[in-house]
Amino acid sequence: MAHRPLVFSGVQPTGNLHLGNYLGAIMRWVALQERYDCIYCVVDLHAITVWQEPQELVKSTREVAAALIAVGIDPRKNIIFNQSQVPQHAELAWVFNCIARMGWLNRMTQFKEKAGKDRENASVGLFAYPTLMAADILVYRATHVPVGEDQKQHLELSRDIAQKFNNDYAESIAGNGHGTEYFPLPEPLIEGSATRVMSLRDGTKKMSKSDPSEYSRINLTDDADTIAQKLRKAKTDPEPLPSAVEGLKGRPEAENLVDIYAALSGSTKEAVLREHGGAQFSAFKPALADLAVSRLSPIAGEMRRLLADPAEIDRVLADGTARAAAMAEQTMDDVRDIVGLLRKR
Ligand code: TYM
Repeated sequence: MAHRPLVFSGVQPTGNLHLGNYLGAIMRWVALQERYDCIYCVVDLHAITVWQEPQELVKSTREVAAALIAVGIDPRKNIIFNQSQVPQHAELAWVFNCIARMGWLNRMTQFKEKAGKDRENASVGLFAYPTLMAADILVYRATHVPVGEDQKQHLELSRDIAQKFNNDYAESIAGNGHGTEYFPLPEPLIEGSATRVMSLRDGTKKMSKSDPSEYSRINLTDDADTIAQKLRKAKTDPEPLPSAVEGLKGRPEAENLVDIYAALSGSTKEAVLREHGGAQFSAFKPALADLAVSRLSPIAGEMRRLLADPAEIDRVLADGTARAAAMAEQTMDDVRDIVGLLRKR
């Protein structure tokens, strides 16, 4: 059965959004709204899988919603809301907890990284994180999921869950008039020159909110001086930039800066090296800083404007919630029939 194309993606409200979130995901979400119906979710229930200060969480949820609007996602044309407002996500996640196998979740590298050495002390929520993610996507029966490279394994798991649900309940799915397959197998959209933006301090580590060094990342709200300073201090090697892509081999920091430049300018690594090949970093870094400031400072300005009126952000989220909940409840009605849970009366 062909499923109607629908895009879903999510972002956690855990502190500042950074250049990796922007280039790897959110910037690309803007373009997708021209071609697809899109649902973008601030995933606060995922955030609390590790400790969050309550006041900070509320603040970050509004900030991330503001960032989505500020980058150019139109909340009238798309759905923007926060996850905890639509309880069907958690409800479907429970059903998926009963579909997914312990062995599948045990293989998740993000859990291993986040739990660290003390796995016994990690929350059950952190372990079950990927089943909630599958529920986020599949409660809308979404078909396309634009994310950065680091979410690839979670999306494969979402596909496995959808497939196992379709297989386990095949008879009931057919019996309830849903054909041979109830859930689509969602496709990851991992595209562009910056699907994995690396730390500015270490080109082998991904840029991340949890890195203790502020100099490892550029935040969407950093001012021009901070952006220039962070790029000036970014780790590089002593060689000039090569003229061809092969010359970036074994030079992760150089490659990262070229990738960032390419993604920010909407071009390719090849084109960036044609223009800047042979340049020293002392010349390339200020050019990159100018480009980054020209792209990011209008977003930061728009975020400040939106955050001055939190009630308006709450209205946008409430409107998105109402539209999302109507779709999600339809799916849950079907799922209750398929699984054999009495329907709500
Ligand atoms: P989160 O909040 O960590 O990141 C949001 C998006 O940013 C991408 N990203 C990066 N891309 C390139 N380079 C980086 N250094 C970088 N760091 C982050 C992420 O890949 C992501 O696309 N589990 C998800 C949130 C989520 C979700 C979902 C996503 C919850 N439910 C359903 C898609 C569909 C997460 O933690 O993203």
